[in-house]
Amino acid sequence: MFVSDFLAVDHQGHLTIEGADTVALAQQYGTPLYVMSEGQVRESCRRFTSAMRDCYGENSLVIYASKALNCKEMCRIIRSEGLGLDVVSGGELYTAMAADFPAERIFFHGNNKTPSELQYALECGVGTIVVDNMTELELLDSLAAAGSKVQEIMLRIKPGVEAHTHQYVMTGSIDSKFGFALENGEAFEAARFAQKCKNLKLRGLHCHIGSQIFEIEPFCETARIMLRFMLRLKEELGLKIDKLNLGGGFGIPYIPEHDPRQPVEFLRQVSAVVHEQCEQLGLELPMMLIEPGRSIAATAGITLYTVGAVKEIQGVRTYVSVDGGMPDNPRYALYGSEYTAIIANRAKAPADFKATIAGKCCESGDLLAENIYIQKPVPGDLLAVLATGAYNYSMASNYNRIPRPAMVMVRDGSSREIIRRESYEDLVRNDI
Ligand SMILES: Cc1ncc(COP(=O)(O)O)c(C=O)c1O
Repeated sequence: MFVSDFLAVDHQGHLTIEGADTVALAQQYGTPLYVMSEGQVRESCRRFTSAMRDCYGENSLVIYASKALNCKEMCRIIRSEGLGLDVVSGGELYTAMAADFPAERIFFHGNNKTPSELQYALECGVGTIVVDNMTELELLDSLAAAGSKVQEIMLRIKPGVEAHTHQYVMTGSIDSKFGFALENGEAFEAARFAQKCKNLKLRGLHCHIGSQIFEIEPFCETARIMLRFMLRLKEELGLKIDKLNLGGGFGIPYIPEHDPRQPVEFLRQVSAVVHEQCEQLGLELPMMLIEPGRSIAATAGITLYTVGAVKEIQGVRTYVSVDGGMPDNPRYALYGSEYTAIIANRAKAPADFKATIAGKCCESGDLLAENIYIQKPVPGDLLAVLATGAYNYSMASNYNRIPRPAMVMVRDGSSREIIRRESYEDLVRNDI
């Protein structure tokens, strides 16, 4: 199947994920259910790590952006694959620490880290804090001084590159809440300030130009801009920056028309640009870092739902309602994100039924997909939405007091629960 090699259809016409029958999974764990393929997560990690080594060399690191899917088991898997971990809140950091993720391989991001989050990161011994703004720079220096620490930092830079993607996930242009802008001198001033901070050690520059990007050129252009800035810092401030983090944002196939580049294609081109540019500018090759999130987790995951009411509105459309929706996957409601869905218990039947997949919330915008083609559904069928491994569970809510689904991890045909289904009791746990 186009989304993942770990998805298939068995002789009964059931969708399988890494050899596990989705119909059996739904019976065992109930629906809605997030299902992850461990094999696919590991394979995606290895595609990036081996391409990075082959194309750029050993002086590099692939960091998993855990906002895509953060839970203890994902942190353990990422750890065992030797990647670094990007966290963006005290909660993500706490989860990583609870999974014994090595703190020195953690990168702490965020445009408004609170004093207590920064303090917590210092206490954990987080390897790198990616500083977003002047307020944070000053605060972190004073917190590090109070704790008699010298904290390694990177500066988050807005390189001014606009990748072709949805505006809500476009983060590299000047009109972005993230980072220091280059064109108005902000980034240079931040570096000059950081250089004077006794308790901070500026080692790297970071940028992230957006998400679900299919072109390679915006990353190449970003690398050129960042390296020119490194040269300026070297020449004008005598600053030696030896790490370049180009962020994440690599696109994945949600629908058959999506045709993302393989990590090796991407890394070959970007590495060549970094090599060329460093030679031209007389810079030493920096350590290169990238931060894929979606492209590690998304295609490894599917969500299983039970079909309820099928409501045909003559001449308008047919709503196929499922027992989840925007609380477990808000991406359609947020960005109009496209998805592929399959009736998992009759996956071999022709997908010739035009359906709008509706959730169960009191919200007209609670849809998972509009006017897509699936097998003709009847109440009780099992619907699988594909490529939901990233930004689904991690963006889930309890809207309408709907408990969050469980998540299971499948490996070689056997499954284990890695996140328990929330109960009604969980919903009132913090109510007073
Ligand atoms: C700083 C940073 N790095 C990496 C990522 C991961 O992006 P993606 O999941 O598109 O690869 C994000 C996503 O928002 C990000 O903000």
